[in-house]
Amino acid sequence: MEKKYSRREVLGFGAIAGTTLLGACSSKTGDKAVFPWKYKILDVEKTRQRAYKSYFKGGCMYGVFEAIAGQVGEALGKPYCDFPFELSTYGGGGAALWGTLCGTCNGAAMAIAMFHGKPLCNQLVNEVFSWYEGTALPIFVPAEPDKVKKDYQMPTSKAESTLCHVSVTRWVQAAGKASFSPERAERCARVVADMAGFTAGLLNLTAQDKFTPKNQVSAAANDCLACHAKGKQAPNEPEVVSKMSCATCHPDSHK
Ligand code: HEC
Ligand code: HEC
Repeated sequence: MEKKYSRREVLGFGAIAGTTLLGACSSKTGDKAVFPWKYKILDVEKTRQRAYKSYFKGGCMYGVFEAIAGQVGEALGKPYCDFPFELSTYGGGGAALWGTLCGTCNGAAMAIAMFHGKPLCNQLVNEVFSWYEGTALPIFVPAEPDKVKKDYQMPTSKAESTLCHVSVTRWVQAAGKASFSPERAERCARVVADMAGFTAGLLNLTAQDKFTPKNQVSAAANDCLACHAKGKQAPNEPEVVSKMSCATCHPDSHK
């Protein structure tokens, strides 16, 4: 017999009478988690360290998501700490190695969505994604690197895209290393730390009512969106669903 689960149950927020769905504590206490979760201010440096370690357990999306939501879950206690953070492991390598949305972006967006609904959620995601596109990463340097020697000089690169494939390839070109090399894994682990730290910083600001949207879309995409955004801005102009850096795929438009 098939049992139909509610969204809450599937997400592990509530206990089903008499059964344990995904964890022990929620069924023991009978407590229900309230969504969105209440945020707790995080130590940004600690978040980076945790994210770096989590990458090696569950990949890039998990690394960012778990470092943020896992810490808040622990601070909130049961049943929040029983959330199945592992569900985010699918996002590694741009979702099952498809090279689409970078797992660090995906994990950051998921963490943000745990605490904020729209429109704030989207503003925070915009801020994180455009930071990711336009910043030379990685910045984080672990005390004990996992995949490289301590004295390895980590090259940096700007992804100028939120796509895993583009981001990894640009780093690979800058570093002269292969996509499946230990150095590239180390690079991604450090990007995980950077993204977790940056996102936690934004969430901290938001919790203190100090977040103001600044860098929502790259300046280059903004120029294109002056015409191509939703709502006709120019005659005959096609509207597009994208805030990604346009030049990655349209380097020669209107030239
Ligand atoms: C001043 C308004 C305006 C701006 C700014 C603008 N576009 Fe367009 N774009 C149009 C219009 C109108 C069309 C449809 C007519 C045409 O093809 O020229 C178009 C068509 C396109 C097309 C489909 C046709 C093609 O050339 O392949 C692409 C792709 C495109 N634009 C990309 C871009 C990108 C990328 C930018 C930023 C670098 C940009 N556009 C900036 C107005 C604009
Ligand atoms: C990851 C690659 C990628 C990125 C990034 C991207 N595009 Fe495109 N875009 C495409 C592809 C592929 C098509 C389809 C081209 C075709 O089939 O002719 C397309 C089509 C278009 C068209 C034509 C749509 C139509 O209805 O005819 C416009 C306009 C356009 N893109 C603008 C943009 C703008 C503006 C941005 C940045 C905000 C952007 N694109 C970012 C890949 C991309």
